[in-house]
Amino acid sequence: MIARPNKNNNGGSSPAYESYRGIPPVAGLCSMPEAGRDGLSVEACVRRLKRYHYSFRRLHEIFTARITAEPIYELKTAFSLHAHICAEHVAVLRRRVGEMREPPLGLEAVPDPNLEIFFDEILGAPSTGELVAGLYEKAIPALIAAFDRHLADTNHLADYPSVRVCRFALLELADLARFGKETVRCLVDDQGGAARPRDAFVDRNRMADWLALLDRCLAAAGGLDGADAPAPGGISRQHSAQAYVYDGKPRRDERFPDPYNRGVNAEAFIYNEKLPPEPKMLMLFFRRIREIEIPEMMASIITETKDKPWDYYREMSRQLWDEARHSLMGEVGFASLGVDWHKAMINCTYALIMNSQLKPLERHGVLYFVEQGLMARTGKRFEWEVGLASHNHLAGLFQDYDWADEVLHARIGRDWYIPQFKDTKEALDYGDSHWNVLFTGWKAWRDQGLTQHRNWWPDLYLDACAKQGVAPDPEVLKFAETYEHRRADLKKVPAATGSE
Ligand SMILES: [Fe+2]
Ligand SMILES: [Fe+2]
Repeated sequence: MIARPNKNNNGGSSPAYESYRGIPPVAGLCSMPEAGRDGLSVEACVRRLKRYHYSFRRLHEIFTARITAEPIYELKTAFSLHAHICAEHVAVLRRRVGEMREPPLGLEAVPDPNLEIFFDEILGAPSTGELVAGLYEKAIPALIAAFDRHLADTNHLADYPSVRVCRFALLELADLARFGKETVRCLVDDQGGAARPRDAFVDRNRMADWLALLDRCLAAAGGLDGADAPAPGGISRQHSAQAYVYDGKPRRDERFPDPYNRGVNAEAFIYNEKLPPEPKMLMLFFRRIREIEIPEMMASIITETKDKPWDYYREMSRQLWDEARHSLMGEVGFASLGVDWHKAMINCTYALIMNSQLKPLERHGVLYFVEQGLMARTGKRFEWEVGLASHNHLAGLFQDYDWADEVLHARIGRDWYIPQFKDTKEALDYGDSHWNVLFTGWKAWRDQGLTQHRNWWPDLYLDACAKQGVAPDPEVLKFAETYEHRRADLKKVPAATGSE
């Protein structure tokens, strides 16, 4: 016999319900009284889901837009991951809203003007310290609180698909919150400037008013989920009083002292059959860590390309994060050897030129053209083979996954870049024609005193030999080929657009 659930789960008046031999009832979702309680209506549920969706969208926008000009490498890479995570949750929430008797319409609307101000303010945060405090002390905790409240307010049987969405979101938001808490501790000075005056980025006292403004935005919106009564009173904008302008100039922290240096042609070294595989591992790690330029560039494509289907942003953000991952693989590779990667000059010229001289579609064209080249026999497979031959387990492992990722990226390019052209050939030619612009500037940067294109290879190689206790190979040590005359695909730099 099935007991009728109490409407409000008061627990006292219903006969105790017994499942078969005590097996957890309700498919293990919750107890019978919990399944029998009241919950959010479909309409109330959708209203909240749309706000979570909006919040993840805005967070994705902020994380992406702030990658390029953020100097700190650890934040660039974390923002890349967090943008990817937000994009995935946006997609899941869009699908769930579409299941709730709602056509997937109205998802582009702003659910509350005060929520819009809240995210605009964080997008426009003038310093790294304020940005991380706004993101990780205000936005992420508010989103966690909203999902927690959804789980407390909704009926877990009736609204099970939303419950699942909330639980997975909470799992990843906890990771973001943990990273953010540690980061804020490192970048925001809570001691009023006295205790850590040299390494603190922002004195908390200086941003107290602004953090209070963010709280007022949420209160005026009735909470991020809109479940509270909105607090009265108007909000006046501070950092978003002027509309945000995307900054596409890549910036690096002090561990990147020579960002215009293109003095070591890594490909000329790796593809030289006369050179042994062991030192090629170092060049592979250099090629990986140098990939930090790709998130810096892809962030500009994603930020400046409007009105695409959400799957475009989701897949491009996945690729952006993969490229940040590849960069991290390089950092981990160097760290595993105890080699000081600061001895390698990691340039930013690729992202700098692309972001400042090419339109978003032209950047995408170059990206696709380069990645197609990586699918050739001499591309990613070759790097993996070099990794294995170098007898460094990380080089082999990382190149294995790097290769798999690039196959995915080629597919993403086929799905989102190629259809904008008559055929594949036209799309490839378009990318190739714009690629040459990357090789401009070699001489100009030197003449302007921005770099001497110093050959840093001997420093790095000698450091690695010392750490591994091996004698330097004179042939390897004397390598000195730059990008002045040969591109990364080892073709000649065209005279018309080249560095001469
Ligand atoms: Fe990559
Ligand atoms: Fe890629």
